[in-house]
Amino acid sequence: MEVKKFTVLGAGTMGHGIAQAAVQAGFDAVLYDVSAEFVEKGAARIQKSLAKRVAKGKMAEDEMKTILGRLKTSTDLAEAVKDADFVIEAVPENLDLKKKIFAELDKLCKPETILATNTSVLSVTAVAGATNRKDQVVGTHFFNPAAVMKLVEIICPVGVADKTVEIALDTMKRLGKTPIKVKDTPGFIVNRLLGPLYMTAAQMVLEGTATAEDIDTAMKLGAGHPMGPCELADFGGFDVIQMAQDSVFEYTHSEADKLNILYRKMIEAGRLGFKNGKGFYDYLPDGTKKPFKVF
Ligand SMILES: NC(=O)c1ccc[n+]([C@@H]2O[C@H](COP(=O)([O-])OP(=O)(O)OC[C@H]3O[C@@H](n4cnc5c(N)ncnc54)[C@H](O)[C@@H]3O)[C@@H](O)[C@H]2O)c1
Repeated sequence: MEVKKFTVLGAGTMGHGIAQAAVQAGFDAVLYDVSAEFVEKGAARIQKSLAKRVAKGKMAEDEMKTILGRLKTSTDLAEAVKDADFVIEAVPENLDLKKKIFAELDKLCKPETILATNTSVLSVTAVAGATNRKDQVVGTHFFNPAAVMKLVEIICPVGVADKTVEIALDTMKRLGKTPIKVKDTPGFIVNRLLGPLYMTAAQMVLEGTATAEDIDTAMKLGAGHPMGPCELADFGGFDVIQMAQDSVFEYTHSEADKLNILYRKMIEAGRLGFKNGKGFYDYLPDGTKKPFKVF
């Protein structure tokens, strides 16, 4: 099967970016959310992002119109998925919600449709388990911002068919992405490797070994990382890191994967990272940031 039509469920941070990547790559895409307000907001974000490219001279106005012409929005799930070849779910990180949606998708989609979840930390095997097409479910883990970031981790749940993985890899390539294959294990590749880096950076801040700012400078200039671990943790969000780290630790039982207490304390103090302007840094309204004094 050659994938031609995408449906993306959830028009938030990730969903709108995934739909944008699809229409920019020439696919037809339907962006679905539970209310007209959310779905229109997602479509407006896509339009704004493309308009920026036009303003910078990176895209012709006509091209933008053609791309936007490939995007449809919907608040009717049955209508949204009826013609889809590939459905990507990007709704909030809640296993019961995802399982409920996948059980519905299984009934509403064509028999050959491939179902994908963009989950960061949940078990793709558990999500697939809610369907009667367990061999046709994968994880497609995009990175934020999804329209720009090249990597997509293709997560292979227990029981997935080789053909499904092959189609997912090929489709992501046609989407302009670089897909890599990984077994359905907590953290997949990127978050599993980032965990110990985040944990060690937090421990160094806690011990007063160095400031968050100096740790970031060290890793940028000494290790060639584009962002330091504290900046990156702020960007990921401490609540998300907690969820990811707890599930990795439950799997590995390695001390290096255990959530550092500083993240728990930061969350208790109402500091979630960049998303609420409070992390290792305070993010100011003028777009600048200043280091936060933890103690
Ligand atoms: N934000 C990130 O950096 C990031 C990165 C990789 C993966 N993820 C994963 O992607 C998924 C989505 O995350 P997000 O950051 O885009 O969340 P978000 O909160 O920005 O967006 C979620 C969207 O889903 C919609 N929604 C809620 N219930 C729905 C339903 N029943 N049907 C359809 N839509 C529904 C919401 O209205 C909202 O627009 C999560 O599983 C998350 O773990 C997030």
